[in-house]
Amino acid sequence: MGKYYITTPIYYPSDNLHIGHAYTTIAADALARYHRQIGDQVWFLTGTDEHGQKIQRKAGAAGVSPQAYVDGIVANIKDLWQRLQISNDDFIRTTEKRHEKAVQAIFEQLYRQGDIYKSEYEGWYCTPCEAFWTERQLKEGKCPDCGRDVELVKEESYFLRVSKYADRLIKHIEENPEFIQPVSRKNEMVNNFLKPGLEDLCVSRTTFDWGIKVPFDSKHVVYVWLDALSNYITALGYPEKTDLYCKYWPADLHLVGKEIVRFHTITWPIILMALGLPLPKRVFGHGWLVLDGGKMSKSKGNVIDPVLLIDKYGLDAIRYYLLREIPFGSDGYYTEDALILRINTDLANDLGNLLHRTLSMIEKFNQGVVPSPGTYQDLDQQVIKQSQESLIELKAAMEKLEINTALAAIFKLVSRANKYIDEAAPWALAKNPDLQERLHTVLYTMSETLRLVAVYLVPFLVETPAKIWEQLGLSGSPSSLEYNDAIKWGWLKPGVQTRKGNPIFPRIEVEKPKEEQPVEQKIAVPEKSPATQETGQITIDEFSRIDLRIAKVIEAEKVEGSDKLLKLKVKVLGAERQIVAGIAQHYQASDMVGKEIVVVANLKPAKLRGLLSEGMLLAASNDQGQLALVTPESMIGEGAKVR
Ligand code: ME8
Ligand code: MG
Repeated sequence: MGKYYITTPIYYPSDNLHIGHAYTTIAADALARYHRQIGDQVWFLTGTDEHGQKIQRKAGAAGVSPQAYVDGIVANIKDLWQRLQISNDDFIRTTEKRHEKAVQAIFEQLYRQGDIYKSEYEGWYCTPCEAFWTERQLKEGKCPDCGRDVELVKEESYFLRVSKYADRLIKHIEENPEFIQPVSRKNEMVNNFLKPGLEDLCVSRTTFDWGIKVPFDSKHVVYVWLDALSNYITALGYPEKTDLYCKYWPADLHLVGKEIVRFHTITWPIILMALGLPLPKRVFGHGWLVLDGGKMSKSKGNVIDPVLLIDKYGLDAIRYYLLREIPFGSDGYYTEDALILRINTDLANDLGNLLHRTLSMIEKFNQGVVPSPGTYQDLDQQVIKQSQESLIELKAAMEKLEINTALAAIFKLVSRANKYIDEAAPWALAKNPDLQERLHTVLYTMSETLRLVAVYLVPFLVETPAKIWEQLGLSGSPSSLEYNDAIKWGWLKPGVQTRKGNPIFPRIEVEKPKEEQPVEQKIAVPEKSPATQETGQITIDEFSRIDLRIAKVIEAEKVEGSDKLLKLKVKVLGAERQIVAGIAQHYQASDMVGKEIVVVANLKPAKLRGLLSEGMLLAASNDQGQLALVTPESMIGEGAKVR
């Protein structure tokens, strides 16, 4: 069996974390648990990124020392991971001695070998992103990543000779398609950053002091991203060639949000190349959880507290929702309604019912004892086959990091089993003394399917698999079984006494009355005057509420599993948005890129197939099923208003 080293970003303890951070950490946890389950030796690292100007300012505003400030938040973060039952093997804080000493050694080595040199920096700095930008990179004078204000910085600095390694990095990226994923992020890195040319990176600061001191020049602190990225090796004991380091480096996966893919696929590999170390095998940039106000973020304050959600709905419901709802890699729109829907349909209705029905029937028709199966018939074989197919799909999806697809594969089996019960109708068999063997076969098939579902769910849910196990009357736990045994049909020994318990996922009753819509929705619906109701006409004021704009298509791809939908990345009003449109039967993804189209820019974001759609494009269609995009008669530039 192999080894698997997986990391999350180390989060800024500038504030308590929200479900966006929980999302990354739960996804990493599911991957770590999956690899442990299949027998890999796993090292799973998370931690906190505690230095830098942002934290120093936050602490100053709170009137406490930076160390006292981060200590408080880090305690909450560790507590959060415990509540979410995150199975990390280590937690690194960048204020720990083991890390600080190692970063100083790294800085010193790079300086000694000439890859770091002293000069003067003059340029822009985004403190929320802790990122340097050149004048040319700014977008309308703001940070191109987050759109916030930047500050002019002019100070003596050390620089990393990034330019020296750029060609090697481009070659590495081209030769290792696995390295940056999803592929759209790879293209973005190559086209937007590498091809235009890299400039040497400023790697020290002198205008504040909350950081690791440059060992040979104590008025400088190490730039926070050099400090932070190093955690992935310092936590393994680097620069000592410890057993842990030798066993686990290079990392198999750095899992990060899409906004920091650049640091992980450009800055970090160049640091590693300069140190003469192998590069991580894979960096995956997942999408964002967004709310009405845009990306959920600590600094915007539009956040959902995971602790409150767990208290309200339970841990596995939250883990399930986050992992199942959002196609891993795309942005996803968070709503409590969608969460409740997932709980009620997939968990309470499909899975909960399957367990409840199975155990009730075993109780009623066989004194609660799992019977021996007789000869399997075609109908039973179909379920057995689905159990194997679901596993194959699950494994393939996990290799590709399509966590939502992996869960969907498990729930295909759950649905098949529910349908099987309806078709096999054990209640009818029970009435006929001649059909007892058939009844036993059906009851066994139901129980064994549930047992497999519990085993398959082990990486994703932390309480449910054990609950199913317990109710099936099994001892031990589904997570500690030898995997190749656990996944074999027939592992379940007839004769066990089941223990039916409470429903594992009670339905959530929705109290909210229908008319209590979110305020924004109310505003968005134009009030109809009596006159316009009659004629179907609208006033110019009503029309002017619709913000039609020209958008430029930057990327397009087919939505997997749908014939109709294309997922577009468009630029409009200086920002990038995702629009999902039902035009795939009329336009190839590749034809769309570069087109200028008309979009409704102020449409409330909606979700299609779990994908966020931030706006709608205009197209004309006729009764013959033809469709044509509405485009400006000549290229006019994104942002232009259609009026
Ligand atoms: O960037 N949706 O830390 P950070 C999905 N310290 N994921 C989200 C999210 C959202 N709305 N908001 C945050 C830093 N995340 C640096 C990292 S690593 C060497 C240093 C997740 O506290 C996502 O994984 O800003 C994102 O990349 C990370 O939290 C950013 O956390
Ligand atoms: Mg951030």
